[in-house]
Amino acid sequence: MADAAKLTIGDTTTELPLVAGSEDEVGLDIAKLRAETGAVTLDEGFVNTGSTRSAITFLDGEKGILRYRGYAIEQLAANCDFVEIAYLLLHGELPSAGQLDDFRTDLRQHTMLHEDMRKFYDGFQHNAHPMAILSSVIHALSTFYADSLDVNNPSDVHRCTMRLLAKVPTIAAYAHKKSIGQPLVYPKNNLNYCENFLQMMFSVPAEQYEVDPVHAEALNLLLIVHADHEQNCSTSTVRMVGSADADLFASIAAGVAALSGPLHGGANEACVAMLERIREDGGDVDKYVAMAKDKTKSFRLMGFGHRVYKSFDPRAKIIKAACDKLLKQQKINDPIFGIAQKLEEVALTDEYFVERQLYPNVDFYSGVIYRALGIPVEMFTVLFAMGRLPGWIAHWQEMRQSPGKRIYRPRQIYIGPTEREFVPMDKR
Ligand code: ACO
Repeated sequence: MADAAKLTIGDTTTELPLVAGSEDEVGLDIAKLRAETGAVTLDEGFVNTGSTRSAITFLDGEKGILRYRGYAIEQLAANCDFVEIAYLLLHGELPSAGQLDDFRTDLRQHTMLHEDMRKFYDGFQHNAHPMAILSSVIHALSTFYADSLDVNNPSDVHRCTMRLLAKVPTIAAYAHKKSIGQPLVYPKNNLNYCENFLQMMFSVPAEQYEVDPVHAEALNLLLIVHADHEQNCSTSTVRMVGSADADLFASIAAGVAALSGPLHGGANEACVAMLERIREDGGDVDKYVAMAKDKTKSFRLMGFGHRVYKSFDPRAKIIKAACDKLLKQQKINDPIFGIAQKLEEVALTDEYFVERQLYPNVDFYSGVIYRALGIPVEMFTVLFAMGRLPGWIAHWQEMRQSPGKRIYRPRQIYIGPTEREFVPMDKR
């Protein structure tokens, strides 16, 4: 491979060094482009733009490959629990038994929220969206731990990391309890990460509650497949906010806000709403496929299509199999699973979807699993955030430790009015 590309603009030719990744990806280093030519690149939606070098996650959208730190998602999903994956993403290596034990013990020390934080929940409307609560309360953590927010101090960063990983399930479950008017349930440290979350979601002080291990296993799988996905919208947001030296809580709160959008994490919620709508409308899948293709309508098949995956989303494959297994195991007959399967079948053979390489994404079946676990629809994206948390933190840390770290500050091509005279109020 050549080591540079040449770009000629008018009389000026400049060399753009080529940067190769470990999987033979090629990038053009344009760091000197503006200084040498006066031009900048324009790439709306960053479709062709590499914002960073990263050693965390590799994905190949054409081949349907997803690996965390070099390990295939299929192997990790089959062999690990979510806490192990969090360790892998954060430290770059799978933990030994002793390291994993220490990591779990460390996490257990941080599961409770400061009692004063419970008062925040009294201030939210009962119908507040839990993603807004999650983002607000995560940011508010910085007001309780102001003495350990130094982004340049590794021990502060470690403490913020453990606090976030341990407390986010508690924050999330409290948001749900608030919305249904039940007492907030404290964490139980004898349970594992997923069991503990389920007991905080579903137990009540008046009754004995046993976590269904099948539910904990399904949740564990969902968290694993969501744990990282390289430079997506929310992760890029976390890195961007962190690049301004904002603390980890502020950066993660911003990531949660980005994830709440229906084109990103909010798609799982929108997908179940769409499947419900199709069911209530008599289950005519063809009608909705036709609507998604109709350019005069803004309707899209939620849970279909992906910016990067153009053959299939490997996470969707894992989740579909898990969904099938869970529904059979629990003898659940959810009509929307049938509709989802039919929709997938129709869309996958339809020219419109084939041509545009639109396949089911991770959100297409995850909502069906969440429903089977009894998770209410507005909590779906919150679970996505819980899963993505170690990935966000790993990226934030990688960005901070990068030798070329600079504040993220893209350029633009200005298309507004050129200079004009100010018009006084009485002349407008
Ligand atoms: N239904 C119908 N048509 C679609 C869909 C869809 N779900 N997705 C894309 N298209 C069409 C577009 O209309 C466009 O058609 P055109 O070329 O005739 O104009 C073409 O496919 C390309 O679509 P873009 O919007 O340009 O693709 P982009 O990469 O920008 O968007 C996205 C990707 C946002 C995921 C899009 O496919 C979408 O809106 N999907 C539905 C929402 C969704 O499921 N989001 C979850 C993403 S995964 C995640 O965040 C975890």
